[in-house]
Amino acid sequence: MTTNYTIPTTPNAVRYHATGKPDEVLKYEAVSDDAREPAAGEVLVLMETAVIHPSDLGMIGGTYGRLRALPAVAGREGVGRVAKLGADVTKFKIGDRVRMPEDAGVWREAIVARADDLMSVPADLPAEQAAMAFINPPTAWLLLHEFADLKPGDWIIQNASNSAVGECVIQLAHALGLRTACLVRSPEKHEAKLRAMGADVVVADDDKALKAVMPQLGGAAPRLALNSIGGMSAITLTRSLGQDGQLVTFGGMTGDAIRFPTREFIFKNVALRGFWMDRWARSAKPGALQAVFDAVYARLRDGSLKMAVDSVYPINQYAEALARAGGYGRNGKVLLRGPGA
Ligand SMILES: NC(=O)c1ccc[n+]([C@@H]2O[C@H](COP(=O)([O-])OP(=O)(O)OC[C@H]3O[C@@H](n4cnc5c(N)ncnc54)[C@H](OP(=O)(O)O)[C@@H]3O)[C@@H](O)[C@H]2O)c1
Repeated sequence: MTTNYTIPTTPNAVRYHATGKPDEVLKYEAVSDDAREPAAGEVLVLMETAVIHPSDLGMIGGTYGRLRALPAVAGREGVGRVAKLGADVTKFKIGDRVRMPEDAGVWREAIVARADDLMSVPADLPAEQAAMAFINPPTAWLLLHEFADLKPGDWIIQNASNSAVGECVIQLAHALGLRTACLVRSPEKHEAKLRAMGADVVVADDDKALKAVMPQLGGAAPRLALNSIGGMSAITLTRSLGQDGQLVTFGGMTGDAIRFPTREFIFKNVALRGFWMDRWARSAKPGALQAVFDAVYARLRDGSLKMAVDSVYPINQYAEALARAGGYGRNGKVLLRGPGA
């Protein structure tokens, strides 16, 4: 770990002054406040690694559930290194790793922030895994713990199983002794990898998915279905559920409205629920969020959870990184690297 960082004199950030398409509204520009000396109680943090998520595009586009005041720096998740201390800061030393403050936007080279507002992040974790620890793994963890009282051997079913959340669900469920039925658009591409992570059943997410999956569950029916797609795929998940099963929707990659099959709703008492990590975190009891992060860190450390990285771009190549993130055929998250790396 270096403690001798090169601090940019005019740190840049990926910023938007109006919501819209990323290639039209994003600008790589200096944010003057990021360059100032930290005052008493403040530290200067250099971004180490940041993540590109579908929700970042929703925020930039103005469609996400919570938007930022404009102009806004883009990006929600990442880690940084403390590179300068203001007077009276005892919580951190130079080189400590912290979570980049989400609300301020994280696709930036540097930020000056109050030390008390920053969350420590274990420095022994690989930077890329640490940067991805705050949104998708906690979402997967909470989806498995907050809805059904699942017992080892129970089945769950999900779509977009090769998504970052989907792969976290498979690995965390496997460690809990749960069995996973996994729908993907391209099983020929993803089946071997998902099975190696612990997936029990992998089938194509098409109009034959229900017929393909049910005979493989040994007569059981899933108790929990996790939907981040919508449309026909969500209907397949709902139809697979057993009595009193729950369909939890946490994403809508197709943009389609969710329709539900009436029979399951009435005869099986299936419940349709929504989940938003952001809302959960804001209403969680003190310490609850940190406890979920600690559970995630422990699994990243012991190797039972690992997230795929497709590629890493220097932050000034954010436009290429976004093109890669939005393109077909990527395998894992696209990350941005900053001067704290
Ligand atoms: N509610 C919450 O708190 C919360 C938290 C985290 C994430 N999420 C949401 O969860 C979803 C997944 O996030 P992520 O970061 O894991 O995503 P990701 O790693 O970028 O993966 C995206 C997934 O969506 C699939 N997909 C994309 N477009 C699709 C379409 N038109 N039809 C069917 N499948 C499509 C992809 O399949 P291919 O590989 O076949 O393209 C891939 O499996 C997103 O909607 C995200 O916003 C919600």
